[in-house]
Amino acid sequence: MTGFLESELPIVAAPMAGGPTTVALVGAMQGAGAFPFLAGGYKKAEALAAEVRQVRELGGSGTFGVNLFVPGTDAVDAAAFRAYAAELAPEAAQYGLELDPQPVVDDDDEWPDKLALLLAEPVPVVSLTFGLPDVRDIAALRRVGSRVLATVTTAAEAKIARDAGVDGLVVQAPAAGGHSGTYDPLRTLTSVSAPDLVREVRAAVELPVVVGGGVARAEDVRVLLAAGAEAVAVGTLLLRTDESGASQTHKDALADPAFTETVITHAFTGRPARGLHNGFIDRHESTAPYGYPALHHLTRPLRQAAAKAGDADRLHLWAGTGFRAAKEGPAAEVIRELARGL
Ligand SMILES: Cc1cc2nc3c(=O)[nH]c(=O)nc-3n(C[C@H](O)[C@H](O)[C@H](O)COP(=O)(O)O)c2cc1C
Repeated sequence: MTGFLESELPIVAAPMAGGPTTVALVGAMQGAGAFPFLAGGYKKAEALAAEVRQVRELGGSGTFGVNLFVPGTDAVDAAAFRAYAAELAPEAAQYGLELDPQPVVDDDDEWPDKLALLLAEPVPVVSLTFGLPDVRDIAALRRVGSRVLATVTTAAEAKIARDAGVDGLVVQAPAAGGHSGTYDPLRTLTSVSAPDLVREVRAAVELPVVVGGGVARAEDVRVLLAAGAEAVAVGTLLLRTDESGASQTHKDALADPAFTETVITHAFTGRPARGLHNGFIDRHESTAPYGYPALHHLTRPLRQAAAKAGDADRLHLWAGTGFRAAKEGPAAEVIRELARGL
């Protein structure tokens, strides 16, 4: 394509924090002509710096981006949080764990260091999710030559992002796997289709758009490009590939016929996210409070133990609505399939 991201194909490998995105996946995507993102979320700045270096050492196309979680200020009700920790105690006891009833709200820690890294060693593109940082941070990233993209989930958010000075938008439809980047985690995500959302955003702002959410086949890519997107992002389709670092429990669940649908849940992390519908969601969705990252930290040891034990019932199995199309094999093959007919 496409002056916007400078990749051969108008296809983006979405950032997937928590394991799935690896340096090997980024390399495979560069080789296949797609535009890949490294996932900076949950990571220490040092670990992110090491990954950026490794991607540079791959000597691939050189086109890649880094995705950051913008630190939030989600309020969490301390009493509701304690009650939820008590409710989860029997789940944790299965693994001999005790969950910490004190909310940890620490996400600000690493932001300055990650920003400093990206200002000292600029990368071609920086994408932001979970809201917007100080406009001065956006301006600073642009000054060192990075293009800055903001994740948005509505036309109203797109206008706010434009006014904050970003270069482009990552429009995330509600069909997307993983966390919603909505600026308002308490809002009920509507069921707008990805092509309709692209049209709404394009009508509201003039910035270039990458769109993701529920893409399963080449036809979906064509429809989204025709709707006005410059590029189409895929996440879930890459989760089972050879280069994905998703846990085996997650990979297996995506192909397990026992899982028949995805739902939006805040029970694991306190922020709405789409994943395979499992027992943990049934048991806790109605009682879980909101509040990211406090809930993320609360449930993390339990989820780590579940992933290790092959317990798909207690794990956040992030997946978009197209999960049935996620296949094993080289990630480059997924891109080749999606690019057919472009
Ligand atoms: C396992 C997983 C992890 C994700 N992690 C991130 C992330 O770290 N940052 C981000 O901006 N989006 C993240 N997302 C959302 C993707 O950027 C993208 O919106 C989504 O994958 C597109 O929909 P699809 O999964 O249906 O292809 C994640 C999605 C998944 C499935």
